[in-house]
Amino acid sequence: MLTCVSPSLEHYAERHSAPAGALYEALAIDTQASTDRPQMQVGRIEGSLLKLLTSLTRAERALELGTFTGYSTLKIAEGLKEGGTVTTLELDPQYAALARRYFSQSPVGHRVDLRVGPALQTLASLPGPYDLVFIDADKESYPRYFELCVERVRPGGLLIIDNVLWSGKVDDADYQDAETAAIRELNRIIAQDPRVEAVMLTVRDGITLARRR
Ligand SMILES: C[S@@+](CC[C@H](N)C(=O)[O-])C[C@H]1O[C@@H](n2cnc3c(N)ncnc32)[C@H](O)[C@@H]1O
Repeated sequence: MLTCVSPSLEHYAERHSAPAGALYEALAIDTQASTDRPQMQVGRIEGSLLKLLTSLTRAERALELGTFTGYSTLKIAEGLKEGGTVTTLELDPQYAALARRYFSQSPVGHRVDLRVGPALQTLASLPGPYDLVFIDADKESYPRYFELCVERVRPGGLLIIDNVLWSGKVDDADYQDAETAAIRELNRIIAQDPRVEAVMLTVRDGITLARRR
């Protein structure tokens, strides 16, 4: 994944953001050692942003698509109001098992409801409403995920969508693969959707914030 700023500026920003804490550092090391795609983890900057956005929206009910090993899930859980829950959806049972190990060690782990299976299928049993949704699962389903999630977010609630710049491929006609095409399609849909007010942030791999009207 390419970031929008140089690696050294990215590290500078990281060093000047809230420290993640020992559990997150251990989770990052474990993810690096035991998974094939550790770069999928949101990391310190985006993790801190997720926690802040969750607390700023005073979210009590959050939904996440794409748990991986649980870094972003725990950051959202940290930002929830007391008594709140984040429901997180993951396809891969091995990633889910690693995530569970860290949820059980976290003081906010009891706020997490992890569901293993294809997100499109699991979503059918989750009517919402949610205060906040974070979309970070398989990219080819992004347009469908957005449609299903926008219906489940309460007015004034927030959708957060990761990887909307896709290492710059969205703006490069040389890339016509299915994932890039789906993210382009999603970006086009959101920009024209009267149900949301959106801004695309050039943070990390691109993050869209869309507030439900
Ligand atoms: C980019 S990673 C998520 C990273 C995570 N948010 C974090 O910060 O650690 C995407 C995740 O979506 C999962 N995934 C892929 N297809 C899925 C599907 N159809 N349903 C649910 N999860 C899926 C992948 O297994 C992977 O763990």
